[in-house]
Amino acid sequence: MDKKVSKIISKLLKFYERTPKHFEGKILGSMTTYPHALAIYAYNLFICTNYGDPFIFSALKKMEEEILLEISKWYGETKLYGYITSGGTESNFLSIISAMMRNSCKNRVVLAPDTVHVSIIKASRILGLKLVTIPTNNSPIDPCVLENYVRKYEPCIIIVTAGTTELGIIDPVEEVAKISKEYNVYMHVDAAYGGLLIPFLYKAGRIKQDLRFYKGVSSISIDFHKNGLTPIPSGMILYKNKNDLENICFDASYTLYGKYCGLLGTRPGGPVASVWAMVKYYGFDGYYEQAINMHDLARYTYEKLQGIKDICVYEPILPIVVFKHRRIPYIELLYKLVRKGYYLYKSPSVKGLRIVVMPHLRKEHIDEFIRVLEELVKE
Ligand SMILES: Cc1ncc(COP(=O)(O)O)c(C=O)c1O
Repeated sequence: MDKKVSKIISKLLKFYERTPKHFEGKILGSMTTYPHALAIYAYNLFICTNYGDPFIFSALKKMEEEILLEISKWYGETKLYGYITSGGTESNFLSIISAMMRNSCKNRVVLAPDTVHVSIIKASRILGLKLVTIPTNNSPIDPCVLENYVRKYEPCIIIVTAGTTELGIIDPVEEVAKISKEYNVYMHVDAAYGGLLIPFLYKAGRIKQDLRFYKGVSSISIDFHKNGLTPIPSGMILYKNKNDLENICFDASYTLYGKYCGLLGTRPGGPVASVWAMVKYYGFDGYYEQAINMHDLARYTYEKLQGIKDICVYEPILPIVVFKHRRIPYIELLYKLVRKGYYLYKSPSVKGLRIVVMPHLRKEHIDEFIRVLEELVKE
C-alpha cells in the first residue's frame, strides 16, 4: 500500500480507537445508534449521488416515492407527500417555512409547549419569528390552555411534540389538531424521536395515543437516524398537502431539475437509499417488534433503578428513563459516570439524568450500568 495512505489510515484508526462505540453499551443518553449493515451498504452504494438533483439521480426520486407509499399507512393515510431531510432540526425548520409560505403570519408567532426541542427555538430566531412557549410543568399540553394562547396570539404555526426530548412525553395531537382546524392555523408535530415508536407501541396497547394525520395536522417530522437504523443524517418531513411540500422548494433555474428543496443545496443521496432499504427490510412489523423490545428494556431499566437506594425514577412512556439521586446533584453524578466511561444526557427541567434505550442496547449493558451506578452512589 502507498506509504502515505497507510500512514493516514493508521492515524484514522487511532482516532477511531478513542471513539466510544455503541456496541460497548456505554452510550446511554444519546439518540444515536449503530446503523443496520444493509442501511450502510445502501448508503455507500449511493455515496456519490446528489438528492438535490433528482433529475440526474432520478432513482432517488423513485425510492422517495416508494418510501412515502409504504409509510403513509403507518400514519393512517394512503398518500402523503414528503422529503428526506438531514434530521429533526431541518424538518422542524421546514415546517415553519411551510407555515410562513402558506399564510400571512401577521403576528409572526410560533406557539409551542415549553417542552419543545431546541431546534424550534433556533429556527424561530433565525427566521425572525417570536416563539411563545406555554408552561406545562412537564405534562402533555392542556388543549384548553393552548386554545387560550391561540386566541391571544393568533400564531402562524402551532408545534407540539410526540415524544419530547427530555422525558418522552406525548402531547395530545388529536385534541390540538381540532383547535388548529377550528382556528385555521398550520400545525406541525415534532415526532423526530417518537415517530418510529408511537404507531407501534400504540398498536401493542403500550401507550394510549396514536400518531396520525388527524384533521388539522399539516406536517409531521420523523427521524430514521434515531430509531430507523439508518446512518446519520436521515430524517423526514411528511406533509398532508402537496402545496406545503412545494413551498419548501426554491428556484434553481441553472440545474436540470430547476429547483432545490429543503435547507441544503447539494445533499446526500445515501440517506434516501438507506431509508428505502430499512423501510423495505423492517416494514411496520419489523419496527413494531423493535419498539416492543426497546420498551421492555426501558421498563427493565426503570425497575432496576427503582431498586437502588436514594434513586428516584420517572416511569417511562417511550423508551426514555430519567432518574436522579436524592442528595447527589445530577451534574455531579453525570460527570462521575463520565469518568467511568458512561455517557448519559441531562433532563435539566427535572434536574435528572436521561437514558434513551436505543436499538443497540442489551439487558447485559443495563445490568453492568446498574452495578456501576450502585457502587458510585455508595461511595
Ligand atoms: C423531539 C426532537 N426534535 C428534534 C430533534 C432534533 O433532531 P436532529 O438532531 O436529528 O436534528 C430531536 C433530537 O434529539 C428531538 O428529540
